[in-house]
Amino acid sequence: MPSFMSTVRSSVGKKFLMAITGLAMIVFLIEHLTGNFLLLQPNPEPYNKYAHFLLSFGWLLIVAELILVAFLVIHMISGISVFLKKRQARPVGYHVTGSAGKPSKKSFASTTMIYTGIVIFIFLAIHLKTFKYGPYYETTVDGVVMRDLYRLVNEVFSDPLYVGGYVVAMILLGFHLRHGFWSAFQSLGLNHPRYMPIIYGLGVLIAIVLAVGFLGIPVWIYLREVVL
Ligand code: HEM
Repeated sequence: MPSFMSTVRSSVGKKFLMAITGLAMIVFLIEHLTGNFLLLQPNPEPYNKYAHFLLSFGWLLIVAELILVAFLVIHMISGISVFLKKRQARPVGYHVTGSAGKPSKKSFASTTMIYTGIVIFIFLAIHLKTFKYGPYYETTVDGVVMRDLYRLVNEVFSDPLYVGGYVVAMILLGFHLRHGFWSAFQSLGLNHPRYMPIIYGLGVLIAIVLAVGFLGIPVWIYLREVVL
């Protein structure tokens, strides 16, 4: 019987880990986008209160953040390893890179997973430096002193360079999610032919909602703060 470690090290094990961690990170993104929609309001209080509410979870929030970091690391290491193994097996690329036809889901999104993944990682590093570890502004809401994240986000998204960067990164995130969601179900063995079209469609929907939602926020803030 194969040991736990040898299963994890196998391609099937790595794809399984990638699928579980990827789906969990999609759950985080849905929560993150839902909270960020509060930034669309001209009133800063609801968003600042929401961010302050999250902080009130204290050590529970720290544990959740550590789990998220662990998932990201596992996801990236497994992804890079599967990519390198595949390349080793076929060092010379195929000439034809178009769609492989109806039953196959080979597409621009599926063949660029490693590259869109790298861009998302770079985006994330800049994102955390800009916001989580960015300048600390303070405000008082209902007598409670808290971080004024709303002001920081508005300041950052008044810069067209940032807005443009977010738009490009979020389009690539959309491509990554579109293939990743469907592929995760394949890797988990949940690929009954009857349900796969539904799962594929759901993946497309999630990718569009998250990409358009995340890129719409900086564009909206830029228009509100600078143009209008
Ligand atoms: C419109 C787009 C986005 C906005 C306005 C936004 C805003 C923010 C802000 C203000 C924070 C700091 C929260 C705090 O310190 O309490 C944050 C944290 C974070 N964001 Fe975003 N975000 C956006 C998109 C994204 C995307 C697309 C991803 C992932 C690909 C992402 C991943 C994260 C992560 C992992 C954290 C750290 C969470 C934590 O440590 O609790 N964000 N975001």
